[in-house]
Amino acid sequence: MEVFQARFAKHEDELRWLYMELYNNIDGYNHLVSEMKQYYVSRRTDLKELDQKRSEDPSCYKKNDLIGMMLYIDNFAGNMQGVKKHIDYLEKNNINYIHLMPFLDKPKDKAKSDGGYAVSDYRKVRDDLGSMDDLEELSLVCHKKGINLCMDFVMNHTSEEHEWAQKALAGEKEYQDYYFFFDDFSIPSKFEETVPQVFPTTAPGNFTYLESLDKYVMTCFYPYQWDLNYRNPKVFNEMMFNFLYLANQGLDIIRIDAVPYIWKTLGTPCRNLPQVHTIVRLMRMIGEIVCPSVLLLGEVVMEPEKVVPYFGTVEKPECHMLYNVTTMATTWHTVATKDTRLLRKQLDIVAALPHEYTFLNYLRCHDDIGWGLDYATLKEQGMEEVSHKQFLNNYFRGYYLGSTSRGELYNEDPVTKDARFCGTTASMCGIEAALETKNEKEMDLAIQQHIMLHAYMFMQSGIPVLYSGDEIGQINDNDYKYDPGKVQDSRYIHRGELNWYKAKQIDVKGSLENRIFTRLHALEDIRKTHPAFISEGDAWTLDTWDKAILCMGKYYDKEKIIGVFNFSAQPRTAYLDDIYDGPYTDLLSGEVVDIKQVKLEPYGFRYYSIKFE
Ligand code: GLC
Repeated sequence: MEVFQARFAKHEDELRWLYMELYNNIDGYNHLVSEMKQYYVSRRTDLKELDQKRSEDPSCYKKNDLIGMMLYIDNFAGNMQGVKKHIDYLEKNNINYIHLMPFLDKPKDKAKSDGGYAVSDYRKVRDDLGSMDDLEELSLVCHKKGINLCMDFVMNHTSEEHEWAQKALAGEKEYQDYYFFFDDFSIPSKFEETVPQVFPTTAPGNFTYLESLDKYVMTCFYPYQWDLNYRNPKVFNEMMFNFLYLANQGLDIIRIDAVPYIWKTLGTPCRNLPQVHTIVRLMRMIGEIVCPSVLLLGEVVMEPEKVVPYFGTVEKPECHMLYNVTTMATTWHTVATKDTRLLRKQLDIVAALPHEYTFLNYLRCHDDIGWGLDYATLKEQGMEEVSHKQFLNNYFRGYYLGSTSRGELYNEDPVTKDARFCGTTASMCGIEAALETKNEKEMDLAIQQHIMLHAYMFMQSGIPVLYSGDEIGQINDNDYKYDPGKVQDSRYIHRGELNWYKAKQIDVKGSLENRIFTRLHALEDIRKTHPAFISEGDAWTLDTWDKAILCMGKYYDKEKIIGVFNFSAQPRTAYLDDIYDGPYTDLLSGEVVDIKQVKLEPYGFRYYSIKFE
């Protein structure tokens, strides 16, 4: 208990202060603290050891040796035991951080589960995937191998099938207060004036009428996802207990889903309100007291000025890690336009942030690409938001000459035609089209683009996270169109099952899978062995005198790395006039070269290193 007390003493003042500021409820506070003690007491010894170890090296997750992968348990290996059996495949792919996509109990009806983001029990694993015991077993195996486990904590809402929602539906006022209930539409209609819509086409409006009660409930996402009322201290406490319960199952990273939405105030957009930050800060302290090895990953899919505050300050940190979402969207804009100017600006913005901030970098994930770009800057380059989004959506559907991308629109607004986009990296790079046409040249180009994008992603500061299937170039899965529970949601196009026959081809020389796997592997090895790739190192971009070529620099501990990336399908030359030193070593070929002029093949790239003694 001494350890708990010492950690508690460090945070007690602030914890109590913030809790009372939000709730002014000392009983609630005392209840929270006494439960925190219980979760500490019941935490496994191996996890307590991990807490101790990581407390001694708090920057351990910022090194250059972490590579993540996001995967759906059923798509990857059927169930949790299956994941355990296939750990060797993940290790072979250099993965030491696995994000298990939502696996908690959810409604049986797929059309009411939002891919698992409608949770009906925070303490039960879906029957078809296994049990909490399986999860614990998996975490033990992973920890033995130095692999970190991440899971989603869906904070903003529960499924309508959650026990609290069911009790609310049965008329229990106490549980109706866990959500936002209204007797008529007068207050909801006021909310509607200022709250934007998350899914304007597939789930318009922010409220759902409940016929059996003749009441309205707030549902900002889908009608079956009821928004939790964090103004109620019971909700906050219960959700923190769920968080600690899950942390104690051996999770290393908790992804807090849709966190900007958790506080609602009439007359505001109900996003990123100051109380959201108070809650995240409270959660961070609760974690640091009970289970300090657990990292918080915030899901803030918003413009950069909204994202960065979720890191908190150096003295009062909130999330350990955040998604680099604007860079991801800007990357695909660059793929379509072959113009790196906006990407360069975006990378410079990120590079100017404090080096303590850790981003998760990715090319694709389970969600759509929302085209959240810096349209003010694009306007200066002659591009308008509406028409540019249309261009991107058309380009990535393969409607333009020169585009070999494949994919689907997501939540297209029938009036404004605004839409987001879905597809796998491989399909968006042309691998699907090349398989259709059986055109080898096209395939070479598509693979080259796929690899180049990963090489560039590995060079960004932070933690690279692959999306399962990308390691073998898995293409879109159109089967969702024949499943009534999925057909409305085109995000399922990139949520297909991993094809194990294909995954095994990584060992078959010359196969598509082998060509991708071996090249990614080589890049991952380079990244791991060169300290300059470390998250906390310096990062900058350089002029190349060709809009289609991006040049990035990284420096750490006497090593400088220069990365050059050709986003066009033509051979190009980068003129690196700002390089005054040399010679450099080409990290892929081992050659020692001068890099004032770099000739690149279509979608070609180079990593160069120089060491200073
Ligand atoms: C997050 C998830 C997304 C889900 C939403 C609602 O944004 O990534 O898949 O639909 O939250 O829970």
